[in-house]
Amino acid sequence: MATLFKNIKELIQVRTEAVSFLSGKEMSELPTIKNAFLVVENGLIADFGAMDNCPNNSFSKVIDSTGKMILPSWCDSHTHIVYAGNREGEFVDRINGLSYEEIANNGGGILNSAKKLQATSEEDLYQQSKARLEEVISLGTGAVEIKSGYGLTVDAELKMLRVIKRLKENYSIPIKATFLGAHAVPKEYKNNKDGYLEMLINDVLPKVAEEDLAEYIDIFCETGYFTVADTELILEAGKKYGLIPKIHVNQFTAIGGVQAGIKYNALSVDHLEEMRDEDIASLQNTTTMPVALPSCSYFLSIPYTPARKMIDAGLPLALATDFNPGSTPSGNMNFVVSTACIKMKMTPEEAINAATINGAYAMGLEHKVGSITKGKQANLILTKPINSYGFIPYSFGVNQIEKVYLKGIES
Ligand code: NIG
Ligand code: FE
Repeated sequence: MATLFKNIKELIQVRTEAVSFLSGKEMSELPTIKNAFLVVENGLIADFGAMDNCPNNSFSKVIDSTGKMILPSWCDSHTHIVYAGNREGEFVDRINGLSYEEIANNGGGILNSAKKLQATSEEDLYQQSKARLEEVISLGTGAVEIKSGYGLTVDAELKMLRVIKRLKENYSIPIKATFLGAHAVPKEYKNNKDGYLEMLINDVLPKVAEEDLAEYIDIFCETGYFTVADTELILEAGKKYGLIPKIHVNQFTAIGGVQAGIKYNALSVDHLEEMRDEDIASLQNTTTMPVALPSCSYFLSIPYTPARKMIDAGLPLALATDFNPGSTPSGNMNFVVSTACIKMKMTPEEAINAATINGAYAMGLEHKVGSITKGKQANLILTKPINSYGFIPYSFGVNQIEKVYLKGIES
């Protein structure tokens, strides 16, 4: 049951020795093999190398990849794919001059999505979410993290997490679930934020743990949403159940969320559009992955994460979509990689490393996906005929993917 890809113009992100993540200067190295072969057996990468060494035993399937490149699938470590309906109305409001903050204060934003989700059945929510997951798979995503946070009640948060669990069971891509009950304070708790946090800690978290519904815990640490003290409270509560932090920080304001994340050994701190020098310094020599979400900056017209400054300071960086109905209604990692190059001045090598191996690390999947390494899951992108991998970010907005393979099977 082995498949051979032969005559691959260039095999990208080849890591013979497995790496966990890449930082600083290491990010500018993207190892490749030109004129390569790749063997997939039982869904895993079994062998690869130069065509001169291509094995000549018999294969159940041989795919001639002349002129085309293969790279590991994108690893999207930050999404909110499970949501109900959309918010095109707010999109037009913003075109007409309202800010994201003004819309949220008028009852739009996260609360608008929560209202829709609460009124949607679990089955309908699953169907809507499954369509989005299939769409991002077709765009080259081969591992994904999905958050709750549009429920904001016991039942609706659990409904979201159960939908994520069902997606995990029904799709062959690795999916990680994050509990983001502290995404916004619902109307019912408008003047009682502490009561809401208590409800999350006492009524939702134990059920999340009991049904094994999440690996990670998140909070929107932001002015007008949740403070650093709230963040520490939630992360401490999650810790009791073994939930590892991956948190929303520094999107609009820098209030110390980065430091709170590091204190609680966050696997990642995400957004980082507003970075003070001290935030960059705090992240140095930690195991916390900074994650940039350039599609969100693009859609909201807010600053981009200062990737150049961060990488030049020796930090690692991962790229993810933030796919959600409010700030990023797009799960296209190809666009993310392009935008990182165009707007954040990352090189194609840095952007591809950030969207593969570093993304894998940001969801605890660096041993399973994110590079061409023997024993890793064969989740692969086969490109159309292109001259160089730099053409992928260069030709922004155009899909250079011919086929995607999950566990070596065309999907
Ligand atoms: O990551 N920043 C917080 N949460 C989402 C957006 C939420 C929404 O507007 O629905 C984000 O951008
Ligand atoms: Fe987000």
